[in-house]
Amino acid sequence: MSVNDIVAMKGMEKISVLTAYDYSTSLICDRAGVDVLLVGDSAGMVVLGYPNTVPVGMPEMTMFCGAVARGAKRAMIVGDMPFGSYQPSASVAVENAVQLIKAGCDAVKLEGGSEIIGTIKAIVDAGIPVMGHIGLKPQTSSLWEGYRLQGRTKVSAMKLVQDAKALEKAGVFSIVLEMVASEVADEITKSVTVPTIGIGSGVGCDGQVLVLHDMLGIYEDIKPKFVKRYSELSKSIFDAVASYTREVKEGKFPEGSNTFHMSPEELDRFRK
Ligand code: KIV
Ligand code: NA
Repeated sequence: MSVNDIVAMKGMEKISVLTAYDYSTSLICDRAGVDVLLVGDSAGMVVLGYPNTVPVGMPEMTMFCGAVARGAKRAMIVGDMPFGSYQPSASVAVENAVQLIKAGCDAVKLEGGSEIIGTIKAIVDAGIPVMGHIGLKPQTSSLWEGYRLQGRTKVSAMKLVQDAKALEKAGVFSIVLEMVASEVADEITKSVTVPTIGIGSGVGCDGQVLVLHDMLGIYEDIKPKFVKRYSELSKSIFDAVASYTREVKEGKFPEGSNTFHMSPEELDRFRK
């Protein structure tokens, strides 16, 4: 999937996006037909155990992006630029975006609206496709008002529509709308020619994204209302690990089929 493929899907076919952080799950998601794999800085929470995405840096993102890129054949790979990697200056942002592309990403994603237009233009001018991200911006929301629905008032709704238009003008190829009131997400989706990818922003967006560990039921610390659990994997993992531990203690694992043997002749010599 190329940038052009994703853009062309607007109005034609909904776009399926999921996060991924490692090779094995990337391989599975890619085979299952997801269009875009987002290497989100949500890895900081669901993989690394931080309370929010703020502590995540370029070394971690580079490693996760490489692993996901090696697993995916068809899906487009978008890498999140972590907090601190694009704020200092446009040139720092370009350097870090280049690093994620070298790690195997096809595009990068940054949180912010009108205030980061210059940075987005610089990255796009460097030849790197950019995905925007407005509405709830977890990197800074965690420092200010916390995680709340965005676009609740006319003023904030109009600001979001303006931000989306500014992002489109700056050259983004799509825009994530996180926890935006669905009426506002619908209006943004109508107002821009690039696809909107919603998370907690209603069914009217051009595509949807969820955090893989949320929808699989692996990460259970926080369960936002917008998450739908497609599986309860934590239960499956728990049961498997408990069975394994029991069988090890009872001497039932490994079984014959898991065991290697010397040749009978060599065994004879060995025992003499
Ligand atoms: O980090 C992430 O997983 C994200 C998506 C939820 C959009 O930014
Ligand atoms: Na993110």
